Amino acid sequence: MAFQVSNIMLFILMFLLPLSATAQPYRNVTLGSALTANNAKSTWLSPSGEFAFGFQQIIPGGYLLAIWFNKIPETTIVWSANRDNLVQEGSRVQLFADGRFELSDSRGQRIWAATLSRVGVTYGAMLDTGNFVLANSNSVVLWQSFDEPTDTLLPTQTLNQDVKLVSSFSKTNYSRGRFIFILQNDGNLVSYTRNFPMDNVIFAYWSTQTMGTGFQVIFNQSGYVFLVAQNGSLLNYVASNAASSSQFYQRAILEYDGVLRHYVYPKSVNSAGGRAMAWSIMDFIPSNICLRVGGITGPGACGFNSFCYLGTDQMTVCDCPTGYSIIDPNDRMSGCKPNFAAQNCDEEARETDHFSFNDMLNTDWPGSDYEDFDQVTEDWCRQVCLNDCFCAVAIYRDSKCRKRRYPLSIGRVDDSIGGKALIKIRNTNVTANSSVSEKSSRSTLIIIGSVLLGSSTFLNLLLLSSLLLYVFYFNRLKSNRLQPYQVLPGLNIRRFSFKDLQGATNGFKEELGRGAYSTVYKGIVKNDNIENVVAVKKLHKIATEGEQEFQAEVSSISRTNHKNLVQLLGYCDEGQNRLLVYEFMSNGSLANFLFENSRPNWYKRMQIAFATARGICYLHEECSNQIIHCDIKPQNVLLDESFTAKISDFGLAKLLKPDQSRTTTGIRGTKGYVAPEWFRNMPITVKVDVYSFGILLLELICCRRNYEPDVEVETEMILADFAYDCYKEGTLHLLVANDEEALNDKRFDKFVMIAIWCIQEDPTLRPTMKRVMQLMEGSVEVPIPPDPASYITSV
Ligand SMILES: *[C@@H]1O[C@H](CO)[C@@H](O)[C@H](O)[C@H]1NC(C)=O
Ligand SMILES: *[C@@H]1O[C@H](CO)[C@@H](O)[C@H](O)[C@H]1NC(C)=O
Ligand SMILES: *[C@@H]1O[C@H](CO)[C@@H](O)[C@H](O)[C@H]1NC(C)=O
Ligand SMILES: *[C@@H]1O[C@H](CO)[C@@H](O)[C@H](O)[C@H]1NC(C)=O
Ligand SMILES: *[C@@H]1O[C@H](CO)[C@@H](O)[C@H](O)[C@H]1NC(C)=O
Ligand SMILES: *[C@@H]1O[C@H](CO)[C@@H](O)[C@H](O)[C@H]1NC(C)=O
Repeated sequence: MAFQVSNIMLFILMFLLPLSATAQPYRNVTLGSALTANNAKSTWLSPSGEFAFGFQQIIPGGYLLAIWFNKIPETTIVWSANRDNLVQEGSRVQLFADGRFELSDSRGQRIWAATLSRVGVTYGAMLDTGNFVLANSNSVVLWQSFDEPTDTLLPTQTLNQDVKLVSSFSKTNYSRGRFIFILQNDGNLVSYTRNFPMDNVIFAYWSTQTMGTGFQVIFNQSGYVFLVAQNGSLLNYVASNAASSSQFYQRAILEYDGVLRHYVYPKSVNSAGGRAMAWSIMDFIPSNICLRVGGITGPGACGFNSFCYLGTDQMTVCDCPTGYSIIDPNDRMSGCKPNFAAQNCDEEARETDHFSFNDMLNTDWPGSDYEDFDQVTEDWCRQVCLNDCFCAVAIYRDSKCRKRRYPLSIGRVDDSIGGKALIKIRNTNVTANSSVSEKSSRSTLIIIGSVLLGSSTFLNLLLLSSLLLYVFYFNRLKSNRLQPYQVLPGLNIRRFSFKDLQGATNGFKEELGRGAYSTVYKGIVKNDNIENVVAVKKLHKIATEGEQEFQAEVSSISRTNHKNLVQLLGYCDEGQNRLLVYEFMSNGSLANFLFENSRPNWYKRMQIAFATARGICYLHEECSNQIIHCDIKPQNVLLDESFTAKISDFGLAKLLKPDQSRTTTGIRGTKGYVAPEWFRNMPITVKVDVYSFGILLLELICCRRNYEPDVEVETEMILADFAYDCYKEGTLHLLVANDEEALNDKRFDKFVMIAIWCIQEDPTLRPTMKRVMQLMEGSVEVPIPPDPASYITSV
């Protein structure tokens, strides 16, 4: 019997104790009470349980004495005692019998203590406002956490003169960071950059200009944050969007990026009113910190060599230019480092051939100015920066050229900036280890094909199959979610409305080209009163393409920035309309240039060969996502006003998995330029572009099409075969007939040999594009090429 009773008792204990524990009535923190930092998470709660006071583990073995919102899943700390000095397990906070309130570490060393205005504390209390108070027997407050804010203000809290908020170092590191928000004793309310790690300030990027009148910042229950004068009159709003404290948790925080944001979180699904059960932004200052932070020293709103822009979610983004990588991935403000060796300053070895520019629209680093030129052309600007080993970036805007040197500071991207930044990077030999590892870790492989202008039914079938594959792989990509595809819309490209483009093209009047899946029109767009001629590619309705996929592709294309690639300037994705806006290439395609007019000179042709090789090399080696073009041919190499070759066709990006071990895709590309592996059961790799480049190189050398059905001698019909025959027979001169310039150039034989290497049927024998560049530049000897057709496949 006794046994049974004790069993029932146990049952009652087991099931009722936890209940009674949560329903425990609120009690004051009495003298002598203490909390210990450990996994047990003992806390002092406010009467409603909405706020808790206690230890939060921040890193393994590192604890913060803090106050946080206790009823929401995301840890949201609103105050802390020891942000710069985390304590170990076993540390204690104690309200001593004499009223002292102290945090000491596990060895008993005092880390922090409340500075009391008077003696006589008899109890402490965690209030429902989020304020932790120490009071005497008459409930007069002798110390409160509200008087010593860290980075956060709560409703009913005020910020008095000489009190400041200091931002956290990062999202996860609560120690004092790089920004300060202070109500100065002169009455001015100011946001400053902090001279980290020192406490002095550098640059005021926001202020109320209320010298002599500003008295107190109030955060009231309706969600307004405002500055008042001593007589209570309102001087300035800091946050002015109402939110009821009965329905929302609220906080105003100076975040690690220097922006003061007012956030709300629904207290219940009922009060959410369709809002997500998460913190959402109600208001923030300044409106764009990227443009506000300046100053003579310091990096700006982001780190050195990085640039800052306002993301679509109203958060500031710090990013590195192409060819640079972030120094500490855990600290967005650590700055970026170039992934390439610096330019040699010796006159003889300045390596100007080894550098080129990445263009970024609407970008500048005004903090690194050192030389300016007026009334110059963009080409002049490029050249002057190229010849100057101190020049890291040139800004070209309104016919002015401004040189920027290292470290690049106050980097920003915004439509209001205008012009473009020409960012100098080493073109060969740029792949430092960091970028290599980044490349291999990405699971996304983008193939940009030129299917849109293709018109044969063969090609259309190919497009259809590749589209299906694309959808299949994209869906797989989405479900895997291992490497989320990062979208940066609006980084350096413009989003147009359909009406804009209708106007720009004069109602789609002048057609430049047409294919099965797109039509290209000439247009004019205005930017800062400067008129630019553009090519507008209108994609015909592609039902399977969702908005996000389109944006992702646009975003990836927009980040391929190289002087030998046609630059994407903008896009439109309004309703069913999908349009892409490219820079206009006034000298048409290489096909016209090479085959339709009289023979262009040899040196010009070889310049184009170099440029094309460089462009492909960039796609293969230097993009953050490797890009296989899949349709390199003279129709897809365009020439600008100075006959610089640029690779085109960013019509439809294909996201495929780089599963090199199996055949992944249908055939794409154009007959004559298509590598043999498309027709065999073999994986498609970057080597398909090397093959197509080999054919293109032969066409450039010989100034004829790969396939000429009208030649007199049948053996000369296919250029690739003809070229190897000539090479074997030692009669290479037959390839160029009476082209004296070619025959007199020592490099002529070598270029033919390189082309033969590129068109090897065995893809593994073909060199990489990087290798092709080295062979063409002459830094590496060209070995004897084997017969391209000697490859015997096992299938
Ligand atoms: C906390 O202590 C004060 C002062 O002794 C007292 O007035 C108040 O009722 C106490 N509150 C609770 C919930 O015990
Ligand atoms: C937080 O950042 C500061 C400043 O760089 C650093 O000293 C500290 O070790 C960091 N703390 C943690 C927990 O990472
Ligand atoms: C909070 O401040 C705003 C703006 O001054 C005012 O309209 C509102 O009535 C105030 N709410 C409360 C609860 O004081
Ligand atoms: C309150 O103070 C402000 C600034 O000092 C002043 O402009 C305003 O006239 C005052 N209002 C009243 C009602 O005294
Ligand atoms: C890359 O450039 C650096 C500096 O100019 C040079 O020392 C190095 O040998 C080059 N590496 C390759 C692979 O060309
Ligand atoms: C690149 O990484 C490899 C292996 O990870 C290492 O052996 C090599 O020294 C690194 N090279 C540079 C330039 O850091």
